[in-house]
Amino acid sequence: MSAWGMHLGPSARRQVLAAIWLVILSGAAWIVLGWYLDANDYTDPLRVWRHRVLVLHGVAAYALLWITGRLYALHQQGNWRAQRNRASGLALSAALLLLAGSGLMLYYPPHEDWRDAFSLFHQISGLLLLLLLPLHVWLGKKTRLLRIHPHSAR
Ligand code: HEM
Ligand code: HEM
Repeated sequence: MSAWGMHLGPSARRQVLAAIWLVILSGAAWIVLGWYLDANDYTDPLRVWRHRVLVLHGVAAYALLWITGRLYALHQQGNWRAQRNRASGLALSAALLLLAGSGLMLYYPPHEDWRDAFSLFHQISGLLLLLLLPLHVWLGKKTRLLRIHPHSAR
């Protein structure tokens, strides 16, 4: 099976995980910098760093969506048809979709008053992604081991 097959090769796996972690960490860094920022001081150098981190977040998010597209035909659809790791795969895909949708709403809020609500929703979906990713990888590994060694202890 190719590097981007139903089971990911080491390089594809590294690219997927690197993009996801970069998105999560840059989002988390933006949140944490906000705690230390003086809201009234427009010369606070942390503002510049917070902006840079958000640019990094936007770039990493584009890369992640590209990578998710690469996973679609074989990894997502292939494993879905083979009925492998469906629940956590679906939940992970849904979390990514919610993040992409709410991210878009942060760029183009239908109304400025709604921006804070979309921001909160986006951050909660980010937390969801953080929880679902290790679960998905762990469940995938477990079901794979059971496929290879069907009689091993559960
Ligand atoms: C319906 C959607 C999905 C299904 C059914 C699914 C299914 C699976 C399965 C069966 C495995 C274990 C592969 C094996 O070892 O043989 C796996 C692993 C993995 N999945 Fe998914 N997945 C889905 C969506 C996603 C998405 C959206 C991502 C990330 C953007 C993702 C990332 C990974 C990673 C990093 C692994 C561990 C690497 C590997 O063992 O192949 N998956 N998934
Ligand atoms: C597919 C995944 C994701 C996409 C497409 C995405 C996209 C975006 C976009 C477009 C923005 C607006 C940038 C701007 O205003 O300049 C944003 C902001 C943000 N994202 Fe994400 N993001 C994703 C995942 C995450 C994750 C996992 C977290 C986890 C903490 C996160 C946290 C944040 C935060 C804190 C902001 C700033 C919110 C604000 O300006 O009020 N994002 N994201």
